[in-house]
Amino acid sequence: MEKEIRLDKFLADMGKGTRSQIREAVRKGRVLVNGEIVKESDRKVRPMEEQVLFDGEPVSYVEYEYFMLNKPQGVISATYDPRHKTVVDLIGDKKRKDLFPVGRLDIDTEGLLLITNDGALAHRLLAPKKHVDKTYFARCEGHVPDSAVKDFADGILLDDGLKCLPAALVIQKRDAGTTDVLLTIHEGKFHQVKRMMESCGCPVLSLKRLTMGPLTLDEALRPGEFRPLTEYELELLNNL
Ligand code: URA
Repeated sequence: MEKEIRLDKFLADMGKGTRSQIREAVRKGRVLVNGEIVKESDRKVRPMEEQVLFDGEPVSYVEYEYFMLNKPQGVISATYDPRHKTVVDLIGDKKRKDLFPVGRLDIDTEGLLLITNDGALAHRLLAPKKHVDKTYFARCEGHVPDSAVKDFADGILLDDGLKCLPAALVIQKRDAGTTDVLLTIHEGKFHQVKRMMESCGCPVLSLKRLTMGPLTLDEALRPGEFRPLTEYELELLNNL
């Protein structure tokens, strides 16, 4: 038997307004279920079987949504913050209210962030035992020594006692005073990339996440832009 949901939740999840705006719309007769005006917001709906019209427009129910965001700097990886804009604010008011970011990037980190309302998927991606790979591009201050490649591959010990899992460091480019690196880690400890680079004397000047598990940042997305995941990307995530 198909799961039933309340009409007001159905419409709120589909971004038709707040619960109180929706209750008002229902009272005014703007919502039809199976061709009939419904005046009770707590009416249960079977999303796959019943037809819901809002102001004459059909509304189909999507249980889970998935967006790839290129997180810009200055935005918090959270659902609510009293002072700063959050990544969920970027996805927009029109969207459902139960979205959240899968994991966190620091406020000054850019790049790939998955936004969804699928808690089970988030759990699979974040579970420490899964060791999901994450690759970052970092511009670092100073000269990252070649010896860091082997040290990181062996697993370094940070000053505060954290033993990092083996990580893959690629030195891309050295300029006067800076080094560009790619660093792939298999865990996600607090400020991990910054702490690892700091440990070899080269603090991070800018940081961008390029991959997370099977997802790669779509380079067509400028900072602050997002798009739904493709079917192919969803399939890759489902195979995790
Ligand atoms: N490592 C960091 O130091 N910061 C991030 O935002 C992500 C990984």
